[in-house]
Amino acid sequence: MGANGAYDVESYRADFPILSTQVHGHPLVYLDNAASAQKPRQVIDRVSEVYETGYANVHRGLHYLSEKATADYEAARETIRSYINARSTAEVIYTRGASEAINLVAATWGRQNLREGDEIIVTYMEHHSNIVPWQLLRDEKGLVLKGVPIGPDGTFELAAFKALLTDRTRLVAITHVSNVLGTVVPVKEVIRLAHEAGAVALIDGCQAVQHMTVDVQDLDCDFYVFSGHKLYGPSGIGALYGKEALLEKMPPYQGGGEMISSVTLEKSEWADLPHKFEAGTPAIAQAIGLGAAIDYVKAIGVERIGAHERDLITYATQRLSAVDGLRLVGTAAGKVSVVSFVMDCAHPHDIATIVDRQGVAVRAGHHCAQPLMDHLDLSSTARASVGLYNTRAEIDALADSLDKVRAIFG
Ligand SMILES: Cc1ncc(COP(=O)(O)O)c(C=O)c1O
Repeated sequence: MGANGAYDVESYRADFPILSTQVHGHPLVYLDNAASAQKPRQVIDRVSEVYETGYANVHRGLHYLSEKATADYEAARETIRSYINARSTAEVIYTRGASEAINLVAATWGRQNLREGDEIIVTYMEHHSNIVPWQLLRDEKGLVLKGVPIGPDGTFELAAFKALLTDRTRLVAITHVSNVLGTVVPVKEVIRLAHEAGAVALIDGCQAVQHMTVDVQDLDCDFYVFSGHKLYGPSGIGALYGKEALLEKMPPYQGGGEMISSVTLEKSEWADLPHKFEAGTPAIAQAIGLGAAIDYVKAIGVERIGAHERDLITYATQRLSAVDGLRLVGTAAGKVSVVSFVMDCAHPHDIATIVDRQGVAVRAGHHCAQPLMDHLDLSSTARASVGLYNTRAEIDALADSLDKVRAIFG
């Protein structure tokens, strides 16, 4: 494996043991990567290695294993820092995932800084994780939550966003890439405009970090969140990036061990960043596993992965457009990684069930994006989403299985 030379998809596939699974007598075709990606041997082995040779609680013990686990856990934080180009590891907070990271910002920065009548802008294509925490805060504080409308083809229109900015806008919380449409939001420009209006910008990078280079300093975002399990790492671990100046001023999220420097019954003092936001025993092996996942992605090269996936999406768009009675949902220019669709003959749940019988795993439903479904006047879609190990032959398998759907229901 190397960052130069041809993209050797077969050798990458060999790193993922689960890809040799048979499903209903067919080779697995895993096209549900936007929900969660599979794990390479390098990540599985690293997590096992932690439990076999390097596990203890972190930041607490003075013994060998605790020091080793702490060093590995903090080394993984540095791996994340470097991957997103944060200035310092003080700016990288471990969380359970993107959802927890957004809830953390809402409960701390949001509760501390937002007042009645303040406005938050999201889009109609956010995942529920980037809507519901803001609704909870809106109801508590009397805030106004506004949604940027999305074009019928899934395009994010800067003009529509600009039209919602006012002198009451305090927060812009927007996805980098839509998990349903694959639309890539021009977040750098969104962040610039948000700052110009005096607002803070949070970017949900759950569907971006595994497909493209993310440089939080270049973007100049205030917060950036993502989950490890969509980046070929373990579940139960993710990260919140925040600018140090903001994180310093924010109150803790949860209280407990790890996040304090001193406690008396009268009062407590908080630990320095990033530990102020990390109460309790963390997901130690998972964090180290996420570090291994990022090393794995970096060794191939995330831009090369992105180019491979774009080729698959272009091919899938051609192949699926040719399926009788199929309509693609989300065709914005420059889209990445997912192809959503509906068929005139079958409900998305039926589509997913029939293609599963051919070994093809796709997602069907509202994809935790019900406001988008309402906005597009749909109840659900079927969604195929690609990862670094998918192939054109697998897209062919999907298209063939959709012909079977047509044959059964059409
Ligand atoms: C765009 C987006 N944001 C947030 C999330 C939530 O991630 P998690 O469930 O890992 O917290 C997802 C998961 O599908 C997502 O696609």
